[in-house]
Amino acid sequence: MHVDKLEKLWIYIIGFIIAGMLASIFYTAFAVSVHPPSNVETINSQRLHLTEEFAEDNLGVTNNPDGSITVRMVAGRYGFYPQQIEVPAKTPIKFRFATPDVLHGLHIPKTNVDTMVIPGFVSEVNTELQHTGDLPLFCNEYCGLGHHYMWSRVKVVDKSAYHK
Ligand code: CUA
Repeated sequence: MHVDKLEKLWIYIIGFIIAGMLASIFYTAFAVSVHPPSNVETINSQRLHLTEEFAEDNLGVTNNPDGSITVRMVAGRYGFYPQQIEVPAKTPIKFRFATPDVLHGLHIPKTNVDTMVIPGFVSEVNTELQHTGDLPLFCNEYCGLGHHYMWSRVKVVDKSAYHK
């Protein structure tokens, strides 16, 4: 079968592009831990403030006995609660988010923390923050007029300086 030279060239170029895309997907999945959020856990959003886990007193950072961290936050129009959290660097962190109202997005730039927060569900993201400093956590799903003001601060401190 005769294949035109130029056509052959484009077959190679396209093959190369597809291989590059697949390689980047596998690389980010296995080496950088970028996964689609797959935690399916339901919650009654209308009674969120009354549930034990997302009651006001229970929000924020919990230090687990094994040294890992669990962060519980509520994403509601128009803010994340609590407004600021402090976590240690280079420590396994499990973020758990829920919303009492509408769909929100949740993004910490340059990390794998990027998920939707859907009414009726708990969103869970596991991460480890490598660098100290302040990181913004903001909403990246349009949720209403105050969407642009919806953000929170994550203070990442050195592991040795972290005391609670
Ligand atoms: Cu919440 Cu946009």
